[in-house]
Amino acid sequence: MRAKQRYVLVIVSCAFLILCYFSGYKVEGPMEMSVEPPCFMEEIEDNILSDYKSKYRERCTMESCFNFSKCQSGFKVFVYPTINDLPLTPTYQKILRSVYLSKYYTQNVSEACLFILSIDTLDRDVLSNDYVRDIESYILNLEHWNSGENHIVFNLYSGTWPDYYEDLGFDTGKAILAKASMAESTYRYDFDVSIPLVHKEHPEKGGDVTHSYSSHLPDMKTHLLGFKGKRYVYGIGSETRNALYHIHNKHDIIAVTTCKHGKSWKDMKDERCDADNKEYERYDYDVLIQNSSYCLVPRGRRLGSFRFVEVIQFGCIPVILSNGWKLPFFEVIDWTKAAITGDERLLFQAPDLVRSISPLQAFNMRQTSQLLWHIYFSSIDRIVHTTLEIVRERFDRLMPRTSSNWNAAPGALLTLDSHNSLNLFQPSSKFTAIVLVKSTEFVNGISHLYKLVQNIGQSKYVTRILILWQSPMKQPYKRQWPKLGSHVKLEVVAIPNISSSYKLVFSLRIPTNAVFSFSENVTISTGEIDFAFNVWMAFSGRIVGFESASHYWDDFESKWYVTGKRLNQYSMVFLNAAIYHVYYVDLFQSWLKEDIKREATQVPGCEDVILNMIASHITRKAPIKVTQRRNLGDTPLFHRQEISSLSSCMNLLTRFFGYNPLLRSEVRMDPVLFKDSVSNLRKKYKDIELANP
Ligand SMILES: *[C@@H]1O[C@H](CO)[C@@H](O)[C@H](O)[C@H]1NC(C)=O
Ligand SMILES: *[C@@H]1O[C@H](CO)[C@@H](O)[C@H](O)[C@H]1NC(C)=O
Ligand SMILES: *[C@@H]1O[C@H](CO)[C@@H](O)[C@H](O)[C@H]1NC(C)=O
Ligand SMILES: *[C@@H]1O[C@H](CO)[C@@H](O)[C@H](O)[C@H]1NC(C)=O
Repeated sequence: MRAKQRYVLVIVSCAFLILCYFSGYKVEGPMEMSVEPPCFMEEIEDNILSDYKSKYRERCTMESCFNFSKCQSGFKVFVYPTINDLPLTPTYQKILRSVYLSKYYTQNVSEACLFILSIDTLDRDVLSNDYVRDIESYILNLEHWNSGENHIVFNLYSGTWPDYYEDLGFDTGKAILAKASMAESTYRYDFDVSIPLVHKEHPEKGGDVTHSYSSHLPDMKTHLLGFKGKRYVYGIGSETRNALYHIHNKHDIIAVTTCKHGKSWKDMKDERCDADNKEYERYDYDVLIQNSSYCLVPRGRRLGSFRFVEVIQFGCIPVILSNGWKLPFFEVIDWTKAAITGDERLLFQAPDLVRSISPLQAFNMRQTSQLLWHIYFSSIDRIVHTTLEIVRERFDRLMPRTSSNWNAAPGALLTLDSHNSLNLFQPSSKFTAIVLVKSTEFVNGISHLYKLVQNIGQSKYVTRILILWQSPMKQPYKRQWPKLGSHVKLEVVAIPNISSSYKLVFSLRIPTNAVFSFSENVTISTGEIDFAFNVWMAFSGRIVGFESASHYWDDFESKWYVTGKRLNQYSMVFLNAAIYHVYYVDLFQSWLKEDIKREATQVPGCEDVILNMIASHITRKAPIKVTQRRNLGDTPLFHRQEISSLSSCMNLLTRFFGYNPLLRSEVRMDPVLFKDSVSNLRKKYKDIELANP
């Protein structure tokens, strides 16, 4: 019954649209929130484009055009050597550098699964300065081209005046197109990738990490709907922009355009241009976008525009008017939760449509769009990696990520094979303790280590204690260890080769989400352990520890330094006594490149720095310091004013991230002040008060 009604409705509305289209009227009907082009548009475009399509693009699917047997050594990406007399645009250089630094990159062509050209294919508009001539001769000469099989071709601009058909000027054959302004009519499902159009200035890494998410509700902005941009007086893509002045009311809807662009604008100007240009000058683009709740994203000459990425960056909800555009990364991103898509010819409906959206709904959309921007669009590196992940997921079906992996924090670029985001930051009610033993002294019943194990074992939250034995001394016998309750299992693992990152590697074998790592030399009471664990359960995405350090930028030497000086602020906690989520260890293993891991194993304290940087990168929050009643009595390394050995570690990671993700905090969690009333807590953690573990 329902389905039937829907069909009738669709048929009636199509008939209506056709009628209106041919009689040239604007429709006054409900605006559709859908990316589907109207039914007749497709037919018209199909007729025009069919010749062109058969000429330039094979009808490809992964099964018919991709040679899976090349991917037997995994998803390895090869980049051709650069050709001397072919210059690369800065954007293409950024793309290639992102690939070089990727964990998927290989220099060994015989294990390559995916090939990337070192010929700049970004701008294929013959009228453009960046257009590379005779590209076909170079491409056909590539040794492994093989009609484009297993190749990916990046493109931002295709076609040219007057029709802007998606023509790259060479036969891309079986190559996957990663293209901006992707059209519904030429997109090959499950094969091509729709990428965003970005400016030359788009950062290579890091992106705008200072921009904070707006979190005010209700979310009042000065303007409801904003647009400021070029107007093409005639030709393809000009209709919507030419009509924008109708909705401009100088009050809550600001839609201003200019005709002043290109060399010969004066010859083409119409009677509105002078007035429009004047009004245009009255508004500042950045202020307008940041002060509007919604921003129009009408098509340009091509379907996509820079505006799309710009507005989501500044927390403006895009209202997209570009019929037949496949939105960037629509393959994996659910844009219905972050953007509004309307029919180009229904521009006049846009104000009513956005007025009908509830403040709460708008708030959610803005938060989602900013999150998506941060995860997938904020840098070239992220755009490239999102593209690669989309391609990889098509044949690496062992671990398909769900829509919620892609559309919720921390996003699919950081979702690991063994995790799904549902349990990512779920705290566990128990923890596993790891104790690193390096001591060259004989361990016996009165050793400090025994006392520590006993204190850990008395925690009601511990389920397993793992002793990592790196000491050259003989291990004590099983019966010599302190007696522990039946809820705790003690295990000693001998690690012959001394290297600090074993702490992290071993965390992976752990049955709980929480890892509490200890160095053998710390003095810590059961009360302090329980308290720290309680803090972690409330903030399970963050690292909770006792010893802290901070970082600073040395202008003179132009590099980062780590300092253990006792300051009010801190940005890291050390793992000599700290709790963290096993997810971060997993990231450490699978995400970082080998050279960073090597540094981590060789420099004491480096893995501590890395883990803090990873956690801050993902949560955009500082770790949490718990106050201790007395010195932990551990390694003096962290108490030094400046820990220069950790400087190169931090600088290496900063290059990897493209920015330094660490954030400073002054918060200290104190058991006496935490959660409960004071008297209650004095009872709960009373041994901390006595400072007598
Ligand atoms: C696929 O690639 C493999 C390895 O390079 C090659 O031996 C094989 O001939 C290719 N298959 C096709 C159908 O091209
Ligand atoms: C390149 O990869 C092939 C296939 O995996 C392998 O047999 C060969 O040893 C590799 N060559 C180098 C130099 O690593
Ligand atoms: C938005 O407008 C208000 C005044 O209406 C102004 O104070 C504020 O600076 C504007 N925001 C931005 C980002 O320019
Ligand atoms: C603990 O202290 C001893 C003696 O100072 C030292 O040899 C050992 O390496 C330290 N253990 C750790 C894990 O740092």
